[in-house]
Amino acid sequence: MLRSLVRARPLRSKPLPRYGQWSSPFIFVLAVIGSAMGLGNIWRFPYLVGQYGGSAFVLVYLACVVAVGLPLMVAELMLGRRSRCTPIYGLLRIAREEGLSGGWSVIGWLGSVTGMLALSAYSIVGGWSMAYVFRSAAGAFHELDAVAAARLFQELTDDPERLLAWHTLFMAMTILVVGRGVRYGLEEAVRWFVPVLLTILGILVFYAHGQPSFDRAVDFLLRADFARLDATALLAALGHAFFSLSLGLGALVIYGAYAPERVSLLAVAPVVVLTDALVGLLAGLALVPVVFQAGLSVVPGPGLIFQTLPLAFGTIPGGQLMATLFFTMLVLAIWISAISMLEPAVTYVMKRWRVERSLAASLVGVLVWSLGVLSLLSFNLWSHLQPLGSWSPLGRGTFFDVLNFFVTGLLLPLTGLLTALFVGWRMSADSSRIELGGGWGYRLWLVLIRFTTPVAVVLLFLHAMGLV
Ligand code: TRP
Repeated sequence: MLRSLVRARPLRSKPLPRYGQWSSPFIFVLAVIGSAMGLGNIWRFPYLVGQYGGSAFVLVYLACVVAVGLPLMVAELMLGRRSRCTPIYGLLRIAREEGLSGGWSVIGWLGSVTGMLALSAYSIVGGWSMAYVFRSAAGAFHELDAVAAARLFQELTDDPERLLAWHTLFMAMTILVVGRGVRYGLEEAVRWFVPVLLTILGILVFYAHGQPSFDRAVDFLLRADFARLDATALLAALGHAFFSLSLGLGALVIYGAYAPERVSLLAVAPVVVLTDALVGLLAGLALVPVVFQAGLSVVPGPGLIFQTLPLAFGTIPGGQLMATLFFTMLVLAIWISAISMLEPAVTYVMKRWRVERSLAASLVGVLVWSLGVLSLLSFNLWSHLQPLGSWSPLGRGTFFDVLNFFVTGLLLPLTGLLTALFVGWRMSADSSRIELGGGWGYRLWLVLIRFTTPVAVVLLFLHAMGLV
């Protein structure tokens, strides 16, 4: 497989990557997969699939991935490798080279800032997951009932001090990896923990396979029910493609900047996208049987992971070990994704102020940590504050809800749209061809990024605003 990822034609000389480089094509692919696999796959994908008609939804999701996810992933990786630079300066460099306005660096700005915002919320959930590793290992889920499961979660979110401790620990782990650099930080984390994560997923699926309700779960996840597909399902699929594939934050731009020159980006993107979808499905196969076995139903978001699952694992044999493995996997998935959210801003600070990586990582990390504190307070002391009042698309959200809405509903699609317009319409086709190496795959990509992607993203955007 690897051989087909390597392209034959050498390219013109370019600056060497400044902050580091992946040591092999394989590590590069693993890193992008590691960034993509995260909360999105584990707590959202299984629910969406079950909710919107099983394999019918999977088909729609794959269509969205082809129309939007794949072209944008190629575009982001390409921008990174073309500039070999942090997204903000990289976009500036490419725009200048092409004789375009330096204003296009706004794509880099939007991405890097959104990355920090997203991470501040992501870290809270990372903290919850760490807390649950210890709870499950200590047997706290044994013979839990629904009220007790809800109370267990509530106790955690109600306590600002505990949340603060977990959030701080999670951010420290993320800063540590990013501070150690590409070779000794990001790469080592990816090399060891992505395989561990996939192994745990395999064990969980195997265990779920032994449950009597496995067939019912497969039915829930895979039986095609086209009647459930509506506009909402389509838009959900589109939004999910964005978040799940780590698009719109500059994460893939910076990962592309470290990519070996000889890797074909047009070949890497499909591998990543398929793996990501597969991981989502496997997570469904691992979790849904357990939930059904306990006579419960699949709900979206935090409720599924932090209430339904503890309840379910608490009632079935072997559940304690499996729950511990599950939460360990969750922590790893969130952590490996988190480092890709921090990296764009950290590399910017390194370049802008010429500081050491470890200092840059700490500075940006502390900023993200402070933002996160606002989020965690919105679960308890500030839970009555509704920053947007009853502004309609959101209802009455807390700071945490508003932040999530802005990031996934507005900022990610906006960055995606600008990226598609820049790469498809402003950057010369010659430059992208040099980087991607012609052929039918390239021509198909160009059509998708020019036409399909912008239209689809605008649609998503209007939906988020409550206009469609
Ligand atoms: N893709 C990750 C998930 O599924 C989250 C993530 C990591 C992300 N890096 C990102 C989302 C960059 C958007 C942009 O949970």
